[in-house]
Amino acid sequence: MKNLTFFLLLLIIPCLSKAQQFVANYDESKMPAYTLPDPLVFNDGKAVVDKKGWEKRRAEIYSIFEKEVFGVVPQWKGKMKSTLVSQKTDAMGGLAKRKEVRIDLINGERKVSAMVLIYLPRNSKNAPIFLGYNFDGNHTTTNESDVLLPESWVANNKALGITDNKASEKSRGKSITQWSIKEIVSRGFGVATVYYGDIDPDFNDGFKNGVHALFDAPRDSSSWGSVAAWAWGLSRIMDYIETDKDINAKKVIVIGHSRLGKAALWATASDKRFAMSISNNSGCSGAALSRRIFGETVGRINNSFPHWFCDNYKKYNENENQMPVDQHELLALNAPRPLYVASAEEDLWSDPKGEFLSCVYASPVYELLGLKGFPAKEMPALNTPIIGRIAYHIRPGKHDVTLYDWERYMDFAEKYFKSEK
Ligand code: GCU
Repeated sequence: MKNLTFFLLLLIIPCLSKAQQFVANYDESKMPAYTLPDPLVFNDGKAVVDKKGWEKRRAEIYSIFEKEVFGVVPQWKGKMKSTLVSQKTDAMGGLAKRKEVRIDLINGERKVSAMVLIYLPRNSKNAPIFLGYNFDGNHTTTNESDVLLPESWVANNKALGITDNKASEKSRGKSITQWSIKEIVSRGFGVATVYYGDIDPDFNDGFKNGVHALFDAPRDSSSWGSVAAWAWGLSRIMDYIETDKDINAKKVIVIGHSRLGKAALWATASDKRFAMSISNNSGCSGAALSRRIFGETVGRINNSFPHWFCDNYKKYNENENQMPVDQHELLALNAPRPLYVASAEEDLWSDPKGEFLSCVYASPVYELLGLKGFPAKEMPALNTPIIGRIAYHIRPGKHDVTLYDWERYMDFAEKYFKSEK
């Protein structure tokens, strides 16, 4: 009898898990009705009416995102050291000055090192710069053969022949089109990029490696996940940038694609030294409204990537309406700074319309501060950017960063500050 029950269970369990498998909704008519939290209403129900009020409300919203979504970063008691590892004044055939700077984050015997690859217009001092993580190693963003491979953990990848979690030459130059460094430098901007796994390897390791391991505080349900760690890492790179005379630390534009777009938005929300934020296809828990339940959902992201957010965030799995915030408020945390959100037509998983609507609903905060905000209520046609203090475009094609995206970001950055250079 016991054996029979066991066999029946063996038959039933796979069926159950199949039935419970996530099926994404891509049908607007199947979306539940929802009411978004108002960024301009305090937790106690009173209205925010002026700039001073917004600063207080901002602190409330920030604290909710910290405790309920990304997780709280414990107090940093370590130190940081930066070392110029290489420097070339005639990189890219004479177009650029190139540096590799190692950032060592140290707490006693423990150390995490991240290599920052920097390209600057050759003769420019004080250039504005795009700062963003890359997915597979600095060497993937360029064909230059002497850019170093990461030493930290990388995901195994059959196509690239990576089977031992170590980067290899095979992937050199693989992400060139996602970075467009030549075009960026030619237009007078710098680029600083870091392999995100240098800061925190992207797997669920119980927070034993990466920068989490440099902190001693015990973990609880509001402790930081990997997205917050990546965001924190960007601030440490900013600490370095403030010491580099070739770079204009007042004009650092944080850019991130996909999961790294989520990290970019949280970094600029957390650190007001960043002048501008760019979210490229950041989707669920980035720019897209969670309450729409379109494409990836809170439940799905927490199940697939349990290490990205704090444990409290899991309370909102299939329960988005109970979230005290939604993602338009993450965008609003960037006010008054310029912010660009971009989607791709075929990237339904990231919910392009949800990303667009976040801009619409973040706009009142910018407007309260006397700024233009976001001058649209309807989704624009493809390749037709909407430009206010918040900007948005949707281009044809897949989940990716393309030259078209970069050109729009550069136009936007030029509009806001290249003229002040
Ligand atoms: C997955 C994940 C997304 C994420 C993306 C990426 O698709 O579900 O949330 O943005 O990976 O980072 O490429």
